Amino acid sequence: MTVARAKAKKTKLWGGRFSSGTAASVEAFTASIDVDARLYRHDILGSIAHARMLAKQRIISAAEGRRIVRGLQAVEREIANGHFAFSPTDEDIHMNIERRLTELIGPAGGKLHTARSRNDQVALDMRLYLRDEVKVILAGLKALERTLAKAARKNLDVIMPGYTHLQRAQPVLLAHHLLAYVEMFERDHQRFADGLARIDVMPLGSGALAGTTFPIDRAYVAKLLGFSRLSKNSIDAVSDRDFLLEFLAAAAILFVHLSRLADELVLWSSQEFGFIELPDGYCTGSSMMPQKKNPDVPELIRGKTGRVFGHLHALLTIMKGLPLAYNRDLQEDKVPLFDTVDTVQASVKIIGEVIAGMTVRRERLAGAVKDGFMNATDLADYLVVRGLAFRAAHEVAGKVVQYGLAHDRRIEELTLAELRSFSNKFERGVYRYIAAEAMVGRRRAPGGTARANVARRLKELRV
Ligand code: ARG
Repeated sequence: MTVARAKAKKTKLWGGRFSSGTAASVEAFTASIDVDARLYRHDILGSIAHARMLAKQRIISAAEGRRIVRGLQAVEREIANGHFAFSPTDEDIHMNIERRLTELIGPAGGKLHTARSRNDQVALDMRLYLRDEVKVILAGLKALERTLAKAARKNLDVIMPGYTHLQRAQPVLLAHHLLAYVEMFERDHQRFADGLARIDVMPLGSGALAGTTFPIDRAYVAKLLGFSRLSKNSIDAVSDRDFLLEFLAAAAILFVHLSRLADELVLWSSQEFGFIELPDGYCTGSSMMPQKKNPDVPELIRGKTGRVFGHLHALLTIMKGLPLAYNRDLQEDKVPLFDTVDTVQASVKIIGEVIAGMTVRRERLAGAVKDGFMNATDLADYLVVRGLAFRAAHEVAGKVVQYGLAHDRRIEELTLAELRSFSNKFERGVYRYIAAEAMVGRRRAPGGTARANVARRLKELRV
């Protein structure tokens, strides 16, 4: 036996049945403390509730219960102050804390783990942790929605080209375009909030997989920790990570939206579009090209989408084909989850800052709206209102566009005589009819870009 192994053997909390210590390479390979240390607050919260329940049920004495609770509070302070010496020999956060507890309060510390396994303990910790983080994300999404709505309100009269196939299609209000993202983020908000119902299940009391022989009071623990429901099957409770999958799926969909918004910010701030100017403080320069002002923040959000999608795929792959109940594979849920939480929170916050600081280049948008024959649909509609069938009107408008292209003139630059050579239904009023403001204003059917609709939606959003 090497010295290292002998030492490890002496110190393992589960060392009883082993005649040799753990290989150093295995210890390094299996330890998760570097990753799961961030669960310490929730781990201690869960342990305090468990200890209070054990004392209430007289499974441990009241005095032992009090010592354990005070000891756990001392451990929490040590970790919070950075005075705690984490050890990979103790594998994970659960055993690091239990070890220190016993150092601090003596043999009573060894009673904390009565009627509990790390399998139900880690399931509890993940739920407590995620419940808190989802609340932060929900608040962040609401703040982002407000920021977008405020930018919409500030630019309520600005008309921009609306696109399909990234070709100019029909004029829309910039506010309507921005509020499209509010709808997406509101659905994301609903998805995360809905997932809370599946997180809100208390798994402690499931033991390693089969439950426990001790007369525990699970409902009491749930009440102390603010859970509304108890898990109903101990095997499921220690194996279930659906609540994480749902969270990662919601995050992946959120990142579809963030990435689309980020991409538009990149496009719009380019010289080619020039629709917006991003705030200097949120852009970076080039080490070589002095003139550059790069939109790195939205680019990175677009880029981080890759890892968020990857994390969902990683956990789906970890879970598939796992036999019931707990398997160590499940420890691999933490990196994907924690990195997703961090990436979502940071990205939602910073994209809001970029939006709040951007300037809309109204003159560029006004110019862009004039080009691209975006009033061709309305030219056809004008003829339909005057009795032509839409198909025939579409044909006439198409011919007008072809003529305009050939002569390098916009529809509104053609004389009435020229227009009438395509259809004698054209009258003076056609010019007013196909102006951008008129086109936007007529799209009053619910959900359309008319100012009245957009203003109503802003009112609903209370901005
Ligand atoms: N670190 C482990 C995890 O994250 C805790 C549970 C360990 N359980 C066990 N039977 N080894 O999944």
